[in-house]
Amino acid sequence: MMRKLIIAGNWKLNKTSREAIEFVTLLKRELCDISGVDIIVCPPATALSDVQDVLTDSNIALGAQNVYWEDEGAFTGEVSAPLLKDIGVQYVIIGHSERRQYFGETDETVNKRLAAALKHGLTPIVCVGENLTEREKGRTFEVLEKQCRGGLDGLEADEVEKIIIAYEPVWAIGTGKTATAQQAQEAHKFIRDLLAEMYNDDTAQTVRIQYGGSVKPENSAQLMSQPDIDGALVGGASLKAETFTEIIKNSCTAAQ
Ligand code: 13P
Repeated sequence: MMRKLIIAGNWKLNKTSREAIEFVTLLKRELCDISGVDIIVCPPATALSDVQDVLTDSNIALGAQNVYWEDEGAFTGEVSAPLLKDIGVQYVIIGHSERRQYFGETDETVNKRLAAALKHGLTPIVCVGENLTEREKGRTFEVLEKQCRGGLDGLEADEVEKIIIAYEPVWAIGTGKTATAQQAQEAHKFIRDLLAEMYNDDTAQTVRIQYGGSVKPENSAQLMSQPDIDGALVGGASLKAETFTEIIKNSCTAAQ
């Protein structure tokens, strides 16, 4: 099965609206000739609307970095799926390790956000991944299984087929230490086999699994040439037009 390559930039807490507009204006020009890949940028919430204005009629889609599970009400500080949809957001990152680490995200809250995103037609990018201690103790697969089973709890196969999973080993995020292509492939294959066990082969073959963790122009081709790696979730290197563009171009060539 050919799964379409999907490269997303997670800007995290970076760029004012003005900086974001300038950046995506440049990016749009750089990437206008590229096809055969889904390209997504995920700016901070304050810049989503302005970025969407620039991206209209382009080949770059808009993603948010989080979503709350209730639609509306007395939930100070939260942003819901209907509000994101309203301004043209199509994707949403859910359960990023930084949210798990610093903001108390659990598999249960991931599951609630995931259900809300799907209900409102947003495509969730669900993040999973082990930390260094877990890897060193040989618990990587156990952690991935717990996060996948907990996060996807109660979803039907046709819903799971709509989601993107991002395998992001915590020890490779922002550290410059990338998982080797072999380590990443092994984890992706584990997740895909798990999906086959939880649902069925078709579903497992349909779901796109991105790798994230110090993806750079220098390592993107090798990672994207692995059979179970269908794209990248890029942090630091997505903040510069030159490196993000290069990652996309290298990945397209490698994935062919
Ligand atoms: P870096 O690419 O900066 O390591 O971040 C990866 C990440 O967390 C993407 O969500």
